[in-house]
Amino acid sequence: MIARETRDQIKALARVEEVVGDFVRLKRSGPRFLGLCPFHDERTPSFVVSPALGIYKCFGCGKAGDAVGFVMEHEKLGYEDALRWLARKYQVDIREEAATPELQAEESRRESLYLIHEFAARHFRALLHEEPAVGLAYLKERGLSDSVIEKFQLGFAPPDRYRLREALRQAGYREDLALHLGLLKQKEGGGEVYDAFRDRVIFPIHSLTGRIVGFGGRILRPSDNAPKYLNSPENDIYSKSRTLYGLHLARRAIVRQDNCYLAEGYMDVIALHEAGVENVVASSGTSLTEEQIKLIRRFTHKVTLLYDGDKAGILAALRGADLMLEQGLQVRLVLFPEGEDPDSYARKIGPAALMRFLESEARDIVGFKAALLLEQAGPDPLRRAEALRKIVESIALIPDGFARNELALNMARLTGLNENLVIQELNRARRHYVEKKLPRPQGPEASAGTAAPPDASESTTAPAEAHDYPEEKALLRWLILYGSLTMRYLAPSSEENIPIRHQTTVWAFVRQQLSEDHYTFLCPQADTVLALLESYYQEALPVHETAFDYLMHEAPEDVRRWIIPLCADAEEKVSPGWQNRFGVDVTHEKDVVSSNTLHLLNALREERVRHYLRQSREQLRKPLDQDTLYLTLGQIQAWEQTKKEIAEALGRVVLE
Ligand code: UTP
Ligand code: MN
Repeated sequence: MIARETRDQIKALARVEEVVGDFVRLKRSGPRFLGLCPFHDERTPSFVVSPALGIYKCFGCGKAGDAVGFVMEHEKLGYEDALRWLARKYQVDIREEAATPELQAEESRRESLYLIHEFAARHFRALLHEEPAVGLAYLKERGLSDSVIEKFQLGFAPPDRYRLREALRQAGYREDLALHLGLLKQKEGGGEVYDAFRDRVIFPIHSLTGRIVGFGGRILRPSDNAPKYLNSPENDIYSKSRTLYGLHLARRAIVRQDNCYLAEGYMDVIALHEAGVENVVASSGTSLTEEQIKLIRRFTHKVTLLYDGDKAGILAALRGADLMLEQGLQVRLVLFPEGEDPDSYARKIGPAALMRFLESEARDIVGFKAALLLEQAGPDPLRRAEALRKIVESIALIPDGFARNELALNMARLTGLNENLVIQELNRARRHYVEKKLPRPQGPEASAGTAAPPDASESTTAPAEAHDYPEEKALLRWLILYGSLTMRYLAPSSEENIPIRHQTTVWAFVRQQLSEDHYTFLCPQADTVLALLESYYQEALPVHETAFDYLMHEAPEDVRRWIIPLCADAEEKVSPGWQNRFGVDVTHEKDVVSSNTLHLLNALREERVRHYLRQSREQLRKPLDQDTLYLTLGQIQAWEQTKKEIAEALGRVVLE
């Protein structure tokens, strides 16, 4: 039997859209995702995934459930085996336990701990209104309304030494458990037992599912010999590094706004709610942990840090940002005027002005870091180079290759640094980062359904098969020669299932598609070429007539030498096979620009799927435990399915 804590951990990490996304190609549609139901045959998507609720539902066949349920249904696994499957995907170490009487006792002990918390919270809430209601007066004085006090279940612990102890005794709760939770304390050597929280307003801390896992208590008046805030200690139901204050109230708003504000303190979260901002959580005075970041990432990939604009605040923001960038989050920063926090500032300028402030002040953290470091470096070239290295190190952490390049180029533009220099430096830093990362286990956790799982693809940069990536080369050539041409295609609109005519450039289309696939190029020249193309097509530089021309001027020597033979056949390129394939009279490749773009993209995807199939089959040759075996077989099945879909797409005719 899987231990309770492992189960909780898996459920906390498993994002339903990620799990489903391994098998179903999902498209975002507002706060939800849409896709074709994997459980029945359909042509228009009626399968909906809601990250906020953590569930999927098919409006066609009625199947519905959470992440664990999806794995059970799709992989035909039992509950425990589905959890094991997820544990592997999210690299959770499984702790096993036999379903012994002790274990059942352990379960009921945890339940008792929660019940004591619930009792204590009710107790503190009742006391908030007991005369003389000094706690309530304090909260009102700080601008909180009754509804927000209620929403956060705020309470008050009076100065009495034994108030909670007595209440617990009368209600028959076990004192040893209350001591374990840190609600009560005991003098050394089995001495007197007394209340830990005294003369403080009480902030209950909730888990994601809304159960109370701890308390924070704020002293009413500043004091030299007592800390401003007293918090529950870590215990069997409270892990600080896995908890975010306010998340249970914020999760829906975070999905809706597709952004999460991250503040430092309890009062900041509450004050923002008071001002009408609900997508906010706090890390409670410590820097964010990886577990907390993963929690946020279940709901959004965008975080806005709210910090005091003093030196300490800026340093704290920069320190925390790298870990978030590495986890694939887009990080923005709002600095408050020195000495202000969201709570004090909201009260000072009012809710409407605060909203405007949050909107207008948010800036990209990397851009901020760049400006700051370059300003500090001044004109000295050595110090500027050093600053550039530091900035690029942050950018190199970003998992999505396109986001990385885009950010680097933006930064170059903003700071006036040479774009090529920045990209070169970025590629170097990225290589360094990838090499430094420990190799991860391959195969089983690689996801199916998309062309390349973002993590696995990076750690397999040196595939065993040495070839020169013909599909990647063909697509890169296509982008160099025809990226600015217009292509037309049909795609379902996000709201209804009516296909809509789209028109965009080849470059924009391919870029978007690859970005959705998290496709990472393996061909060593790709990063440089793509980065240069990005700046060419984005700026439509008039000095150079074609992207090819631009690359001939801007690319480093070795890349130029690689590009020339690739594009040399552009003038006369007519493939005899085309007439059959597209069923039209073809005179030149660019006459079938839409079809050929799709064709090249799908060929690329197919090759990547083959690559993963080879890896999975390789895996099967090794001695495997049963779980890994099933997992690998399931993986192969999923890849085969993807391959079939791509093959179908490849055979399809798209008329120009
Ligand atoms: P701050 O000192 O910034 O407090 O600490 P604050 O949130 O602005 O509180 P007010 O406005 O003075 O009431 C930020 C967070 O750090 C933790 C708390 O979680 C607090 O919300 N903290 C701070 C402690 O745990 N203990 C302390 O003694 C101080
Ligand atoms: Mn404050």
